Amino acid sequence: MGYLDVKRGNPLKKTKVLAVINQKGGVGKSTTVVNLSAALGEAKKKVLIVDLDPQGNTTSGYGIEKEELEYDIYDALLNDYPIEDLIMSTCEPNVFAVPATIQLAGAEVELVSLNNRETVLESVLLDIREYFDYVLIDCPPSLGLLTVNALVAADELLIPIQCEFYALEGVTKLLESMRMVKQRLNPDLDIFGVLLTMYDSRTTLSRQVAEEVQKYFGKKVFKQIIPRNVKLSEAPSHGLPVTQYAWLSKGSQAYTKLAREVIRRG
Ligand SMILES: Nc1ncnc2c1ncn2[C@@H]1O[C@H](COP(=O)(O)OP(=O)(O)OP(=O)(O)O)[C@@H](O)[C@H]1O
Ligand SMILES: [Mg+2]
Repeated sequence: MGYLDVKRGNPLKKTKVLAVINQKGGVGKSTTVVNLSAALGEAKKKVLIVDLDPQGNTTSGYGIEKEELEYDIYDALLNDYPIEDLIMSTCEPNVFAVPATIQLAGAEVELVSLNNRETVLESVLLDIREYFDYVLIDCPPSLGLLTVNALVAADELLIPIQCEFYALEGVTKLLESMRMVKQRLNPDLDIFGVLLTMYDSRTTLSRQVAEEVQKYFGKKVFKQIIPRNVKLSEAPSHGLPVTQYAWLSKGSQAYTKLAREVIRRG
């Protein structure tokens, strides 16, 4: 996997930067970034994924060896390292990645002393965003400064919600953060879509949660629901998106249809 000179291509201009966000842990953010990006790539969209989580699950989900990386998104945010030089190609020809390693964990504290502590990611992405149709940012499970940076850099939010107990817990807090960023730094910020994940059609709980989320978010909820599917949980250990690991699986089909719905929403 080599680095890429993104600027060899022509700017595309109509870029959508989506933060995949929910401060609740384990709801399917990274799974969605990896598999939605792959499905968008297969639909001939040019996608940049930005791993903004020190856990680096999106990075490893694409089979990028974190231990072998010399630089990561941390260096772009805090060391003025040019982001073009961080962009890597992936096993999916139209998908490119800015990786994260555990080094990024330091950013949460180190950003505090910067004047532009909330806008640094936005500035870093400014030069390159127009070379992609979609930029997907994988957020960490917190509402700290990294997540605030994602809220400022994003055009819209994609909120995965797990069909489990307490699904909507914390959502008011997330919307509150969104409102604050909207007022001060990013007036056009909006919700792009709410994605129901890990849906199990055999349980009444999943159905109840889906209804509750639909009542709360209305039309923002994607029609396509992501089922609980074992191939989705196996794929990362092979370093592949599910579309390549198990093309015919329910999980792969769901993310492929979600990509179509995302493209239709514009
Ligand atoms: N639809 C699904 N079916 C089965 N397993 C899933 C599904 N979606 C996610 N998982 C599994 O659930 C776990 C949590 O998913 P994921 O890492 O995507 O969540 P996350 O929101 O990114 O978590 P974190 O908040 O820690 O970053 C992972 O082990 C993943 O493989
Ligand atoms: Mg994650």
